[in-house]
Amino acid sequence: MLRMKYCHISALVLCMFLLSLILSIQARHHSHKRQRHSHSHKSSRTFDVTKFGAIGDGITDDTESFKMAWDTACESESEFNVIIVPKGFSFLIRPTIFTGPCHGYLVLKVDGTIMPPDGPDSWPKNNTKRLWLVFYRINGMSLEGGGLIDGRGDKWWELPCKPHRGPNGTTAPGPCDSPMAINFFMGSNLTVQELRVRDSPQIHLRFDACRSVHIESIHIKAPRLSPNTDGIHIENSTDVKIYNTVISNGDDCVSIGTGCYDVDIKNITCGPGHGISIGSLGKYNSRACVSNIKVRDSVIQMTDNGVRIKTWQGGSGYVSGITFSNIHMYNVRNPMIIDQFYCLKEGEVCRNKTSAVVVSDILYRNIKGTYDIRSPPMRFACSDSVPCTNLTLSDIELLPDQGDMVVDPFCWNAYGDLRTQTIPPVFCLLDGFPQSILHNDIAHCTRYS
Ligand SMILES: *[C@@H]1O[C@H](CO)[C@@H](O)[C@H](O)[C@H]1NC(C)=O
Ligand SMILES: *[C@@H]1O[C@H](CO)[C@@H](O)[C@H](O)[C@H]1NC(C)=O
Ligand SMILES: *[C@@H]1O[C@H](CO)[C@@H](O)[C@H](O)[C@H]1NC(C)=O
Ligand SMILES: *[C@@H]1O[C@H](CO)[C@@H](O)[C@H](O)[C@H]1NC(C)=O
Ligand SMILES: *[C@@H]1O[C@H](CO)[C@@H](O)[C@H](O)[C@H]1NC(C)=O
Ligand SMILES: *[C@@H]1O[C@H](CO)[C@@H](O)[C@H](O)[C@H]1NC(C)=O
Ligand SMILES: *[C@@H]1O[C@H](CO)[C@@H](O)[C@H](O)[C@H]1NC(C)=O
Repeated sequence: MLRMKYCHISALVLCMFLLSLILSIQARHHSHKRQRHSHSHKSSRTFDVTKFGAIGDGITDDTESFKMAWDTACESESEFNVIIVPKGFSFLIRPTIFTGPCHGYLVLKVDGTIMPPDGPDSWPKNNTKRLWLVFYRINGMSLEGGGLIDGRGDKWWELPCKPHRGPNGTTAPGPCDSPMAINFFMGSNLTVQELRVRDSPQIHLRFDACRSVHIESIHIKAPRLSPNTDGIHIENSTDVKIYNTVISNGDDCVSIGTGCYDVDIKNITCGPGHGISIGSLGKYNSRACVSNIKVRDSVIQMTDNGVRIKTWQGGSGYVSGITFSNIHMYNVRNPMIIDQFYCLKEGEVCRNKTSAVVVSDILYRNIKGTYDIRSPPMRFACSDSVPCTNLTLSDIELLPDQGDMVVDPFCWNAYGDLRTQTIPPVFCLLDGFPQSILHNDIAHCTRYS
């Protein structure tokens, strides 16, 4: 559909050519599919890692066997290739990049456990400490199974450089790199389903520059006080679906970085942790663009934030077309928050700047439940120079979790409307549309892929 937008009259002939090409490829694809069903022994193969020498005793380094299984499956002429990581085994894998593109569709079926070396002291000296399992340039893959990816993060979380882990609860300086568990980079048509991922040293599951990602029924778990253990982080990625997933951890449940478009998050249960976050965006005066994000039919419980949009002062670009709907909050601090003054420089004040990432067209609909009275239930803190516009509130009902002290919503430079009465009532939104907004800023956002 997107492509069609660029069909101008002058290019009509070319477009028709491309269209017929796409249709013929699709037709071929369909006939292939039929073939798969009728001759499945020919077009589908399985590769058990233990047949490639993996031991799975939790001590032996099985990396080379996994790589061999991967390479064989990836080069297989079959359409459908399943790598089996069998149940009842624990495989120790060093940091590894599994590279594509592969010949056919690939399934990595994890029924057993996969784990990395145990903590920073055991980490191979010649490897980066930022990555563990990387899937690079894969087009068409499913990571699935009833098994476990165990990040063994506890020794990383205790490094003195982590927040409050230094002497007497300080944060000591020093290199602090910690690996994320799973990173998909520049892939497309990716599915992650059924899996359990726990205790990552850092982010559990991250997608960079990916297209068509479907995450379904996964379970991510790390302790409430484990630092920087985001559940799912996506960046520069389009067409991402996250459904029926449960996440409890020590940082954002899902975080959406710059360059993300068309993201649908449905039926997820978050918490404890930091909630669902768009941002932070615009750090170091960067341009950030995020649009068409839906978060719906979900539960957020005992988190520091519910649904959050956070941007640094001094950025550019925009966040727009965001819908948060049918969300139940239980004892959430900051259930609904826009923070355009995000600042993480410790002991330093972030100066206010004259530019900011534009925040507009944000819809909050049917958000109910309870909040922690240490913070207001709604906080829309927009930048002085670039107000937030077109915030819409409908069917909001947020009550104090304990006692009957009601905290007033907070707004700063926030324009929008109430479609219905809200609980608590909101009087602080500004009416209409500000004069100052610079629409041409928005034009500078172009899609990544
Ligand atoms: C690191 O060292 C191991 C063992 O010597 C070797 O197998 C591996 O290929 C090395 N990795 C890199 C990235 O050089
Ligand atoms: C930690 O605090 C204790 C008691 O306040 C003090 O005696 C000790 O010197 C402090 N240690 C460091 C490394 O600051
Ligand atoms: C993604 O992979 C599935 C499974 O093989 C296939 O049916 C589908 O056509 C692929 N989609 C795209 C966009 O490549
Ligand atoms: C995302 O895309 C932007 C713009 O192309 C680029 O500057 C940035 O480095 C990318 N981020 C990542 C993590 O790849
Ligand atoms: C929502 O997700 C949970 C957890 O995966 C699942 O048990 C439940 O069936 C899902 N609900 C719907 C309506 O799909
Ligand atoms: C930035 O602006 C906000 C809103 O006007 C104000 O509350 C805050 O104190 C300012 N911060 C600095 C560091 O000037
Ligand atoms: C305001 O935002 C909604 C989505 O929340 C959108 O449908 C509508 O077109 C926007 N209004 C204007 C005037 O841009």
